[in-house]
Amino acid sequence: MMAEQRTLWTSSEAALATSGEAASDWSASGVSIDTRTLQKGDLFVALHGPNFDGHNFIDEALAKGAVAALVDRQVTTEKALRVDDTMSGLEALGRASRARSAASIIAVTGSVGKTGSKEALKLVLSEQGETYASAGSQNNHWGVPLSLSRMSGQAEFGIFEIGMNHPGEINPLSRMVRPNVALITTVEAVHSEFFDTDEAIADAKAEIFAGLTPGGAAVLNRDNRHFLRLYAAARAKGIDRIIGFGTWDEADFRLLDAVSDNGGTIIRANLGGALLTYRLAIAGHHWVVNSLGVLAAVAAAGGNVSDAAEFLGDMEAPTGRGRFHLIHTGAGEVTLIDESYNASPVSMRAAIEVLAQTVPSGQGRRIAVLGEMLELGSGAAQIHANLAEVLVREGIDLVFTAGRDMAYLSDALPPAMRGGHANNTGLLLPMVVEALSAGDVIVVKGSAGSKTGIIVEALLGLDAHSKRTVNGD
Ligand SMILES: Nc1ncnc2c1ncn2[C@@H]1O[C@H](COP(=O)(O)OP(=O)(O)OP(=O)(O)O)[C@@H](O)[C@H]1O
Ligand SMILES: [Mg+2]
Repeated sequence: MMAEQRTLWTSSEAALATSGEAASDWSASGVSIDTRTLQKGDLFVALHGPNFDGHNFIDEALAKGAVAALVDRQVTTEKALRVDDTMSGLEALGRASRARSAASIIAVTGSVGKTGSKEALKLVLSEQGETYASAGSQNNHWGVPLSLSRMSGQAEFGIFEIGMNHPGEINPLSRMVRPNVALITTVEAVHSEFFDTDEAIADAKAEIFAGLTPGGAAVLNRDNRHFLRLYAAARAKGIDRIIGFGTWDEADFRLLDAVSDNGGTIIRANLGGALLTYRLAIAGHHWVVNSLGVLAAVAAAGGNVSDAAEFLGDMEAPTGRGRFHLIHTGAGEVTLIDESYNASPVSMRAAIEVLAQTVPSGQGRRIAVLGEMLELGSGAAQIHANLAEVLVREGIDLVFTAGRDMAYLSDALPPAMRGGHANNTGLLLPMVVEALSAGDVIVVKGSAGSKTGIIVEALLGLDAHSKRTVNGD
């Protein structure tokens, strides 16, 4: 069925929003900055990137069905909206979209778990009203205004991921999004290359409070060691609706009990005074805590918490973030946990814990296939080596490693745990395939740049009929 093509921007609305001049009349059903993903009906924004100038792709965009291009240069086509600067034009569209919206807006930041929490919020709130959420991890200086500009004026809930690598990045993005609810999933040493201390990372996350609307709510991880710092930062901004979530007794949305259940977890919780039991179809304690943050944000945004908790049971792990696959290989059945999307010290630990909790069948072993963690700065070698302790403690049987910094981990492991090491994941792949045997559980994880995804693809390719085991199906 064709998706409904609703008008998002008419030429006059977009011209008004950007103080631009439209050379013709058109109406756009979407906004795009990339001709590779452009959809028919989009307004194409010709941004000046570090390597490419979008103005060179205008003909291609129009040929693919763009209704017009937002430009800041003289162009020959009539299908153009001319502004002084296309990046500022995109931001202006984003702001205008926010200004015309009556939606309850949730901004999600944190060191890990932003996309997962955003997807969970999208799933559960879609059942309660028209819900818009930013795509993928489009959380930076162009991703946030692009996401805002794509929100329908009819949306009742809007969810935006906001990220950063440097101090000062979140503040202007939060003021653009103007959230009613700000959720900080957790604060850890991730994207830490440009920060001297973890406290400085917490302060950068606290910039999310800058744009919170009057009367808005801050939703904070009570278990995180920076909770009090974030709480104080929120109070200093005059925010008095502060909701804590986690396992702490003082948390408003608090875990009472969690029992692992077939790749998921049965959770009993006190959700702002209401006792509820719900199932999460994703494994791991980190997801249990994320789910409490999601439900606290639902409450803060005016949603129905018990309905939302019920629908969390339908959630599956986003691609590359903990999805389970059962694959039939020549060696027998193997469980693959795909964590190839990204890795940081904290998410590595979380993934190793999930591997430890997953029971192999028969003679199967627990195997970790690990690519490098990037963006760690000068402490990278030591941080990689430190994973040995976690792997030993969690009883992992065999560890394969790829990349220069992962060599430090390989060296730190007891010899019996070393499955193999290679300079890159392509070279490591045959060693992993060779080692597989029936009943094994294998987790594959590394930073996006370390390309552990090719190992996942290859393992899935061993079995064209591989199926997910999440939800017990
Ligand atoms: N609370 C958590 N603690 C530890 N690890 C987590 C937590 N939540 C999610 N993760 C893991 O962190 C990784 C990244 O998850 P996700 O993509 O949701 O984070 P993100 O904050 O959006 O990351 P990015 O900054 O790359 O956009 C995944 O492997 C996920 O399983
Ligand atoms: Mg993300």
